[in-house]
Amino acid sequence: MSPEIDTTNSREQPREPGRTADLVEEFWDLQLIEALYRKGLQTSPNDFRDAFHQLFERRGRLLLTGSARHALRIVLAWVAAGSRKRRVLLSSFNCRVVKQAVRAAGLAIDTFDFATPFGQFEWEGVGRSLTDEHLAIVVPHFFGIPTDFAALVPAARRNGVMIIEDCAHTLGASIAGAPAGLLGDAAVFSFNYDKPISLAGGGALLLNRSAIDIDRKVVETPPPSQLELRQFAQMAATLLYGRTRRGRPPLLARIGAKLHVPPYAQPKLPTGIGSLRAAVGIWQLERYEEIRQRRGRNAQILNESLRHLAWHVAATVAPAPLKLRVAVSPADAAFAVQECKQQRITIANSNWPKVIEPDGIGNVWVNAQRAATFGLDVPVHQNLSRTDLDNIASAFVHAKAPDWERLA
Ligand SMILES: Cc1ncc(COP(=O)(O)O)c(C=O)c1O
Repeated sequence: MSPEIDTTNSREQPREPGRTADLVEEFWDLQLIEALYRKGLQTSPNDFRDAFHQLFERRGRLLLTGSARHALRIVLAWVAAGSRKRRVLLSSFNCRVVKQAVRAAGLAIDTFDFATPFGQFEWEGVGRSLTDEHLAIVVPHFFGIPTDFAALVPAARRNGVMIIEDCAHTLGASIAGAPAGLLGDAAVFSFNYDKPISLAGGGALLLNRSAIDIDRKVVETPPPSQLELRQFAQMAATLLYGRTRRGRPPLLARIGAKLHVPPYAQPKLPTGIGSLRAAVGIWQLERYEEIRQRRGRNAQILNESLRHLAWHVAATVAPAPLKLRVAVSPADAAFAVQECKQQRITIANSNWPKVIEPDGIGNVWVNAQRAATFGLDVPVHQNLSRTDLDNIASAFVHAKAPDWERLA
């Protein structure tokens, strides 16, 4: 791919032999990165920050970080420094690095459940579980589907609890007409692999209240572009290996494997946004609207057959789908995984088969457990062809949701 080539794959193109369609695919490749690098990097991280901030109507204050987890740790540590409160409320169904970020800020974790196994929250009820021990609550917008948490806001205000939106999966979606990320007190974003835009690492923190006056100069530490180039190369090699399993795994992955790190090990985080990530980020943002629409159309096509299995989308939100998450009976899931594998399409329960455990004595949340155990991630990314979509739909043609009563 050259910088000029249409990356939206509007024509039906057969996949290269031996290549498997992944769950999420980035829309850069190493040739593009190297071409941008060779051109000489005139882009500064400020340019990327400005371009990203445009998506939020330039409201609030935006800081570039090493990752979403880094952004979360920074904002939690800042608010904890001025408070005696030491607990944070998280969705039980979650990415474990979110829990690690809370721990790294020196805080303890409580968890809350879904209202159904299809990813729906009942925010008034969650609001009632807030206590004056809670410093913050993290509201997750999973898989590009924002959750309308307006009903949580009064309880959070009453208890003085900071609302942090986790937008790691969600960029360009809206809640009641406003971009997701603007309703909470702060929001975190990820530019890691399998996120809406990917920069082989990096993240952002959006601060929607002027009282949160975190010093940008302390947080933003741009790495040298040679290091960024190495990290892109490492990410590209890791992804190629994962999608083809051909050839030798990259050197760093081989060394990692010796040290018992899985061969898919990603670049070490946090990495920060330097000139190269900034240039690639702007290149992606210029194309993102088209990519977002393509993913949205793919999700719509699949939803025609999979709607009865798919996650809840509130009437008040407009999603920007990253993956289609479905809940399927174990036998139907095994069948669909096998069928898609034969067509070289990956579907898997990669986000996340286990719920996160709260600190101390916590509840076992049944809907989060069900979503974690019986969920499958289905790709909707921009590189899927119409044939791929038809193949996925036919793999699920007889699929049913789990029989929750029998499984109980
Ligand atoms: C929901 C969610 N939040 C936060 C993160 C953390 O993102 P990052 O890898 O940029 O720290 C991830 C992914 O890893 C995620 O899936």
